[in-house]
Amino acid sequence: LRTVTVDLGVRSYPVQIGDGLLLRLGESIKTFSSGEAIIVTVKPVRALYGETAMESLEAAGIRPECIEVPDGEAAKSIETFTEVVGRLLELCAARDSTILSLGGGCAGDLAGFVAATYMRGIRLVHVPTSLLAQVDSSIGGKVAINHPLAKNLMGAIYQPKLVLSSTDLLRTLPSREIGCGVAELIKYGAILDHELFDELERKSESVMRLERDVMEDLVSKAVSLKAKVVKEDEIDSGVRLLLNFGHTVGHAIETAMEYKGFSHGEAVAVGMVAESRVAASIGMMDFKDADRLENLISLYHLPTRIKGVEVDALLDLMSHDKKVEAGKWRFSLPTRLGNGQIVSNPPKETVARAIRGVLQN
Ligand SMILES: NC(=O)c1ccc[n+]([C@@H]2O[C@H](COP(=O)([O-])OP(=O)(O)OC[C@H]3O[C@@H](n4cnc5c(N)ncnc54)[C@H](O)[C@@H]3O)[C@@H](O)[C@H]2O)c1
Ligand SMILES: [Zn+2]
Repeated sequence: LRTVTVDLGVRSYPVQIGDGLLLRLGESIKTFSSGEAIIVTVKPVRALYGETAMESLEAAGIRPECIEVPDGEAAKSIETFTEVVGRLLELCAARDSTILSLGGGCAGDLAGFVAATYMRGIRLVHVPTSLLAQVDSSIGGKVAINHPLAKNLMGAIYQPKLVLSSTDLLRTLPSREIGCGVAELIKYGAILDHELFDELERKSESVMRLERDVMEDLVSKAVSLKAKVVKEDEIDSGVRLLLNFGHTVGHAIETAMEYKGFSHGEAVAVGMVAESRVAASIGMMDFKDADRLENLISLYHLPTRIKGVEVDALLDLMSHDKKVEAGKWRFSLPTRLGNGQIVSNPPKETVARAIRGVLQN
């Protein structure tokens, strides 16, 4: 078991990473939760792990309840949000209840947004089950639901009390979902940590096979990297914006595709290809490094091109993005592999050209 602390003063919390942690769920949350625990999960994850989670809670004397929400981005709709709040009322959930997300980033983002808003905030615990959720979405407190016109438009920064990342749960992930988590790992490598980037290149086979030591190591590294950034900038006003590499174009792709077809990690993969070309075109980054990044993305069978969306639609959607400030586009771009920088307003024509480069119409 490894523990990384997200150090945020009174809002600090531990992230536990290791094998077999789900069995210890009840014991782990008993220290701060006495009331009931309401699990928010999706069908495929409930079928695999719901019972173990409920049993572990019961054994620790915590009353478990379970709310199932639609899988994937449908979990993050306004309708699902309203339904879950209704269920909480039926269950008489109150300030001493704990919301426990059990699932990928979609279940986590929804559960977190519910926890942040229900009665102005009730306790939250994340049990991330996808690689993406373990390396990224469960850390740092960003919680949100989507609007048809913009991804994550309604949200909050609301930190959990605990994150329990049981790496053995990853073994049931479909291989496509492993790639999605790797997309965020590549992002960390590209803008924050050259060694991580190299490691992802060297160990792709072990990662795809989900080798135990390699996964524990990668999850711990990613959590530490993100925890450090979040400690410096919890509210996303400075250095944390760097974590958006690939996401300005990526979110526009997701919205344009109406949150179907491409998952978040895949949209970010294409987004990183496009955005690194912006970086290369404005002379921030070597074209050679941009190619190396694209090769790494391909190595994990992630998409580098996209079909069925128009450049103008994407440019238009990008102007609704939260990263736009006073009409300025802000991109997080690599300067070289392992280093990033925030860039305001790269020339629109350069961005359009980079996007055209990843469209396959
Ligand atoms: N809050 C943040 O800081 C943050 C960061 C990155 C991404 N996100 C959000 O996360 C979401 C994507 O998360 P995701 O990629 O985890 O998608 P997801 O939650 O849809 O999970 C992917 C799929 O894997 C299944 N699954 C999850 N765990 C499993 C397991 N152990 N075994 C078998 N199947 C399993 C799920 O049921 C789902 O079908 C996006 O909405 C994105 O915006 C948020
Ligand atoms: Zn992301």
